This record gives sequence, C-alpha cells and structure tokens, in this order.
Amino acid sequence: MESIELLLNRQSNPALAAPAPVGDDFTNIIKAGMRVPDHAGLIPWHFTVVQGEALATLANVFVDAVKAQGVTDEAKLQKTSKMPFRAPMIIVISTKYQQHEKVPYKEQLISAGCAAHAMQMAAYALGFGAMWRTGDLAFNEDVKRGLNISIEEDIAGFLYIGTPTKQLPTKPEKPFDDHVTFF
Ligand SMILES: Cc1cc2nc3c(=O)[nH]c(=O)nc-3n(C[C@H](O)[C@H](O)[C@H](O)COP(=O)(O)O)c2cc1C
Repeated sequence: MESIELLLNRQSNPALAAPAPVGDDFTNIIKAGMRVPDHAGLIPWHFTVVQGEALATLANVFVDAVKAQGVTDEAKLQKTSKMPFRAPMIIVISTKYQQHEKVPYKEQLISAGCAAHAMQMAAYALGFGAMWRTGDLAFNEDVKRGLNISIEEDIAGFLYIGTPTKQLPTKPEKPFDDHVTFF
C-alpha cells in the first residue's frame, strides 16, 4: 500500500475478531509505535498488551472499577464486562512521564497519542483493523491500578486490534476550508 493512500484513506473499524496480529506483524506494529516524534528522546509511553485470558482479567478490572463508582445496574455491568472482548487484542497506550526542563508533560502525552495513531496505521497497513477508544475507564484510577499503570500516568487510549469482520464503506473526505488558513 502506498503511504499516501494509507494516510488519505485510513479509518477505524470497530468490527474486529481473531486472529490478532502475531509474529512479525505484531512486532512491526509495536515498532511503528516506538518510531513516533519524541522530543528529547524521552520515550514517554508504555504499551500494555492484553490478549487471550488477560481480556477476561481486564473485564474484571473494568467491572470492579464501575462497581466501585457505585453502579449496581446489572445491564450496565454486563455491558462493561463485554467491552474488552470487542477485539482479540488491546494495546493500552499509557504515558511514562519523564521530568525534563524543555519537554512538558502535555508534549509527552501528545507523543503517546502519536504512538497510538502509528500503531493503528501499521495495523491497517498490514490488513488488520483497529479502533482507538478511551471512555471513562481510561481516566479511572482503579483501572490504572488493575493494569499496573501508576495513577500519575495517563492512559492515552485502548487500541483494539483484530481482523475486520466487516469491510466498512469508505467515509467521505472532510472538507478542510474552515480548518486551514494561510498566515
Ligand atoms: C483519544 C481518542 C479517544 C477515542 N475514544 C473513543 C471511544 O471511547 N469510543 C468511540 O467510539 N470512539 C472513540 N474515539 C474515536 C474513534 O477512534 C474514531 O476515530 C472515530 O470513530 C472516527 O472514525 P475514523 O477514525 O474512522 O475517522 C476516540 C478517538 C481518540 C483520538
């Protein structure tokens, strides 16, 4: 696939099933995540890969976090417990903030976001589908603890990755006239 074609036509796909990327495909997705712009070379991100039985563990972490918020509604708990199973693999992209006089944390969070995007693009280029999600649980301290992510860090996203079960129609281009000016 031509790089420009990838960039102009990429889109998310929430309809994902096994198989997840393995071997070189998986490694290349991780390498793409490691390759992103990184001010001062701080590598201020961490990738937590969740797959196989760990998806059920993550489901328990999500449900416990929601229960700790006082939610008792069975339908909501059921829905929460199914969330990790929307793909065979989730890569949780979190920050790994480094103190640096020239690189504020918000720049480091941007780099972590770039890593999420780069891994989504790599997955797409390799014929997989992916969907970047956050939601309340990305900002939840119990979820961070359950994933062994320090509560001082931020979760930039849960990148759901798998094999597309549906080929989605290509979305139309977004007009850019109102979003570009020449100064
Ligand atoms: C930081 C971030 C968090 C997101 N969180 C969610 C989410 O929790 N649920 C969701 O449906 N889409 C979420 N999205 C949007 C989707 O990943 C996707 O970009 C959107 O559905 C538009 O589709 P497209 O990527 O094909 O243009 C998020 C996007 C970003 C950048």
